[in-house]
Amino acid sequence: MGKTAVITGASGGFGYEFAKLLAKDGYDLVLVARSGDKLRKISKNLERHFGVSVRVFEKDLSERDAAREVYSFAINEDPSPEILINNAGFGDYGSFAEGNFEKLTQMVDLNDRTLMQLTHLFLQPMIAAGKGRILNVASIAAFMPGPQMALYYATKAFVLSLSEGLSEELRGTGVTVTALCPGPTDTGFTERANMPGSRFSDIFRFTKPSGVARAGYRAMMKGKTIEVPGALNYLATTGVRLLPRGLVRKIVYRFQK
Ligand SMILES: NC(=O)c1ccc[n+]([C@@H]2O[C@H](COP(=O)([O-])OP(=O)(O)OC[C@H]3O[C@@H](n4cnc5c(N)ncnc54)[C@H](OP(=O)(O)O)[C@@H]3O)[C@@H](O)[C@H]2O)c1
Repeated sequence: MGKTAVITGASGGFGYEFAKLLAKDGYDLVLVARSGDKLRKISKNLERHFGVSVRVFEKDLSERDAAREVYSFAINEDPSPEILINNAGFGDYGSFAEGNFEKLTQMVDLNDRTLMQLTHLFLQPMIAAGKGRILNVASIAAFMPGPQMALYYATKAFVLSLSEGLSEELRGTGVTVTALCPGPTDTGFTERANMPGSRFSDIFRFTKPSGVARAGYRAMMKGKTIEVPGALNYLATTGVRLLPRGLVRKIVYRFQK
């Protein structure tokens, strides 16, 4: 049996880039997202180009039992998956008070609850096997408060904090957890979040998802705890730790408006 990687949000953006990198390195894949057609097309291409097995699981991961269903499907394919990439996520631009509560709840369910449950489920066979790699896609947003996208930033702070805590707890087990913290990148994210042009997107608009995914993949394989790809992102996440939080809130608000 080959080595298997499970990737959520693999129908586009970073997830698709991770799928290509892993297939190239000979991993069989379980790809998860809502867009089954896109996943099936990607699956066919990767199988043809790289000769690996690619299974598709079409699922809305904000649903209550989604994580358990993904886990059952994946374990049925391979009882000892080596890699889990929790990548699926979305943001929503605008005032929290005026936001649609159902959508806000779905964001927490997808970005945090399902990520947490998938991590908990997949850790069991990984710890038993004495090896495993988990990559959680957070964001540079995890390092700061985010007026105008306050809940999204908060969901990513959760991802970073959980990943860091687990990384320490798991020392010595052969299993590692990495948080990838990208800055604004040219994927479907901005459109889904209904983000208008902002100073952030003006500065970062040329960042391509392939380079970010490569950095995340390398960091995960090394078992690094936090990866912030790109010099500007590194500066931003270091800067906010040195500045007073009150000032950081105001700066982010100005950039985000
Ligand atoms: N791009 C950026 O600027 C940026 C920066 C920092 C962090 N991130 C994070 O990077 C991750 C990937 O986003 P991306 O930038 O690659 O954006 P993207 O192009 O919009 O991709 C998002 C992926 O998540 C899937 N997804 C969304 N909602 C889902 C749901 N309810 N159930 C299952 N799958 C779902 C989408 O597939 P379907 O629509 O087919 O379901 C798609 O495959 C996210 O966690 C995002 O927060 C992005």
